[in-house]
Amino acid sequence: MATGLSRMPVTPAALEERVAELLARMTLEEKVGQLALLQGSGGHVDGHLRDLVREGRIGSVLNEVHVETVNELQRIAVEESRLGIPLLVGRDVIHGFKTIFPIPLGQAASWNPALITRGARIAALEAAAAGVNWTFAPMIDIARDPRWGRVAESLGEDPCLTARLGAAMVAGFQGEDLTDSGSIAACAKHFAGYGACESGRDYNTTSIPEHELRNVHLPPFRAAVDAGVASIMTSFSDLNGVPATGNAMLLQEILREEWGFDGFVVSDWDSVRQLAVHGLTPDDRESAFEAAMAGCDMEMAGSAYAGHLASLVEDGRIPAARVDALAGNVLRTKLRLGLFEQPYTDPAMLPASGNPEHLQAARDAARESVVLLKNEHGLLPLDPGRRGTLAVIGPLADDPYEQLGTWIFDGDASLSQTVLQALRESAGAALSVEFARGIPSTRSRDTSGFAEAVALAERSDAVVLFLGEEAILSGEAHCRADVGLPGAQEALIEAVAATGTPVVLVIMAGRPLALERIVDRVPALLYAWHPGSMGGPAIADLLFGVEAPSGKLPITLPRVTGQIPIYYAHKHTGKPPTRESFIHIDDIEPRAPQLSVGNTSFHLDVDYTPLFPFGHGLSYTTFTYSDIQPSSPVTAMDGTLVISAEVRNTGDREAEEVVQLYLRDPAASVTRPVRELKGFEKVRLAPGERRRVGFSLTAADLAFHGRTGRLVTEPGQFHAWIGGSSEAELRIDFVLTDAHSS
Ligand code: NOJ
Repeated sequence: MATGLSRMPVTPAALEERVAELLARMTLEEKVGQLALLQGSGGHVDGHLRDLVREGRIGSVLNEVHVETVNELQRIAVEESRLGIPLLVGRDVIHGFKTIFPIPLGQAASWNPALITRGARIAALEAAAAGVNWTFAPMIDIARDPRWGRVAESLGEDPCLTARLGAAMVAGFQGEDLTDSGSIAACAKHFAGYGACESGRDYNTTSIPEHELRNVHLPPFRAAVDAGVASIMTSFSDLNGVPATGNAMLLQEILREEWGFDGFVVSDWDSVRQLAVHGLTPDDRESAFEAAMAGCDMEMAGSAYAGHLASLVEDGRIPAARVDALAGNVLRTKLRLGLFEQPYTDPAMLPASGNPEHLQAARDAARESVVLLKNEHGLLPLDPGRRGTLAVIGPLADDPYEQLGTWIFDGDASLSQTVLQALRESAGAALSVEFARGIPSTRSRDTSGFAEAVALAERSDAVVLFLGEEAILSGEAHCRADVGLPGAQEALIEAVAATGTPVVLVIMAGRPLALERIVDRVPALLYAWHPGSMGGPAIADLLFGVEAPSGKLPITLPRVTGQIPIYYAHKHTGKPPTRESFIHIDDIEPRAPQLSVGNTSFHLDVDYTPLFPFGHGLSYTTFTYSDIQPSSPVTAMDGTLVISAEVRNTGDREAEEVVQLYLRDPAASVTRPVRELKGFEKVRLAPGERRRVGFSLTAADLAFHGRTGRLVTEPGQFHAWIGGSSEAELRIDFVLTDAHSS
């Protein structure tokens, strides 16, 4: 057994000393071993894996969640390998471990960083009990294309929202201190630009101008680095022709030199060898060279580093110091995690998975993630005490598995409570809750269950329809070219709505769906994403008015697929569409002259607005905004400006509202978005209560990356809006001068 390694370094200098000390004792092969991340052997340690660990040829494993097996692997690493270096044990813990929280896109709809920190903390505690000490989350790719299956894993379309919530997730996983029991290392992914993949096809190519990369895609990663994220994962995609895993501009210049990141970078699954598949390199050896030289520290599930790095050093192509730097980054993280002092897991020291506190947190998260998109004539909330029949219809009303969503490797569907169960439990004695599935699955075209569903709707006082997408339709590699409701679900809505019984449609889905064709058929619409283990009680709470909905869209809902990409922070263009210029295909006269259709930027066959905009979400009360004020009409370069407005609960029940601040720079050296979110705060107000909510801004908040990609702050006029969505109307202008205060 190795000795003398069990000293927890307390200062940065002591940490670097320990890293250097370790490196000095390692052979080249052992250093390369620290760069290898391979699959576990699934609940046992097979001979091959044992040899790799014992010989120091592998430094990390993934996808091993059997705690005895993890402890045995750690024992082999610590006691039987020459240097006794413990292992990183990685797992995709994306939105919960056994207790499943809403999909990240759903959590983002809460606009509540504290809630996200709590969810990640619970996920970390449950995963840590299985021996996991590293998760591949948060995923903070800016996602503006609902066709892309991975929107489900994202925190939505906006850099400001994603940055705040991503940092909150890092804080939850990593805790106050990485050495704390139950803290696990986070991994911000996928660096960078993955969300811009062409046509929403996963793994596809991206072309992103530098100013857009820096203004839109990089801020969440910068925020994660500032929040102390332990690791970063490269993207599968290429960026402007250079795959991210071999991209020195991203991994070296930006991440290390500009941002000072000193954790480690891991490739995505076999993405080092894929450099050759992309066409960047002729073979695995050159792929290892490119990735190592670009700054990818660890290779996930591949063999390019193990097969070639040592000989590349011996041949003088890669300096020995480069391998030291890569291995040093991994060792530094292992030291920070306290693994040398405590490599083993005692599950008894951690809370049990799925305990009541964890389930309550999942319920709170699900409740805050649901967005009320429309509610005509105050149809919602439903009265659980009324006498009559409530029809519950749809394949997602009572499916403990599908409500969990994508990426739930360890999720325990037996913890799930469905909405049918929850409605039955919370309905009063006089309200009979009856169920008809209507359609076998969300993808099915089988209409044989329609008659039963329609008959139930006919004899009921209200219908709640649970439709959307099964879990398998979103997530990695699950992209769709048409983001409408799949199968015969639209026909089911038509059939049920035709009964005349009021219909509440609840969508459970892993992405924004294009609902234009049916939105007018239902008076009330709730968007519940995939809500996780406690989706049932959470949705029942909202339907029965125990709590008012408070979610706001973290991503725009398109009317039809062809509008994509459609997002609120778009450019104005030289010919923006207006109500006057817009003409619909149905209204064009036969043989209309070429110039009669407006000549502005729109499609002829769909309105130019989204179905529901970013930031939108209703409550069971109403909020009004007034009296927007800047603390001063002119602000200096080194000044702080506070923009505030009064928000008032004008309804008759207590509820939460997300107050949002948007800015526009109307004239700049690079055209700027029509609006950009710059701040938000969730407030709880009693009926009639008013509160002034203010947001502090400095020149840094007004800066942007300009023509050369460099950060610039340009004096001039700015517009500011405060309100409850990206369509807020309450506006004030202010001026940034190039003077300095004093
Ligand atoms: C591939 C995915 O792109 C990544 O997000 C994930 O963490 C790894 N596989 C590990 O499962």
